[in-house]
Amino acid sequence: MPHLRPFKFAGSILAGDLLNLGEAIRVCEQAGSDLLQLDICDGHFVPTISFGEEVVRRTCQVTKVPVEVHLMVSRPEDWVPRMQGMGHFRTLFHVEASHRAMGLVQTIAKSGIEPGIAINPETPASAVESLLPYIHNICVMGIAPGFAGQKMLDFTFTKIAQLRAMLDRCASKSLITVDGGVKAENAKALVEAGADVLVVSSGIFGHPQPVESLSEIRRSIG
Ligand code: DX5
Repeated sequence: MPHLRPFKFAGSILAGDLLNLGEAIRVCEQAGSDLLQLDICDGHFVPTISFGEEVVRRTCQVTKVPVEVHLMVSRPEDWVPRMQGMGHFRTLFHVEASHRAMGLVQTIAKSGIEPGIAINPETPASAVESLLPYIHNICVMGIAPGFAGQKMLDFTFTKIAQLRAMLDRCASKSLITVDGGVKAENAKALVEAGADVLVVSSGIFGHPQPVESLSEIRRSIG
């Protein structure tokens, strides 16, 4: 049997009860999330609004699980300073939202936080090739961003494989995250394509036994 790459789960609370975030965080922890992904939706870059930097700060205070921030916002340059000192270890921003992605990657890195980028389904892998040596994570959206509970678009697998080949070519250690529509049915194929981190939200909160959900996905990968 071919050796599969090691992978991690990032639980996202977006599909949880936003009126009971502490409980949503606990469910992600108990399910076995290796990290938490907090989705900042600004109602502009994406049609939905989620929460802001104070929720990031409080989450980092109440959990031992490392927290990653996924900025689904216009003008991420304005948000990066607002997120300073909130306690998270990585910031992902969308290249579609920035006119100076390389500069922003450098700004984030200088502040001691791991810089990462995210790309929407319509953005090709080739659009970010020049950034790959400078980032810690490339997040491939498998869905239109902003909403939990969508089905993953089929070409996501090909895009992950393309990015894996590009990363190997430039000897980048960047991880590949896949975000949106991750379920037990597609998780193994995603890891085989080259994903390192699987973001799961409705796969946790839509599960009849949320705390068992990630173990089930892990078993499906083998
Ligand atoms: C969507 C967010 C995802 C989302 C994934 O824009 O970035 O983290 O919560 O949700 P599911 O797992 O339901 O596709």
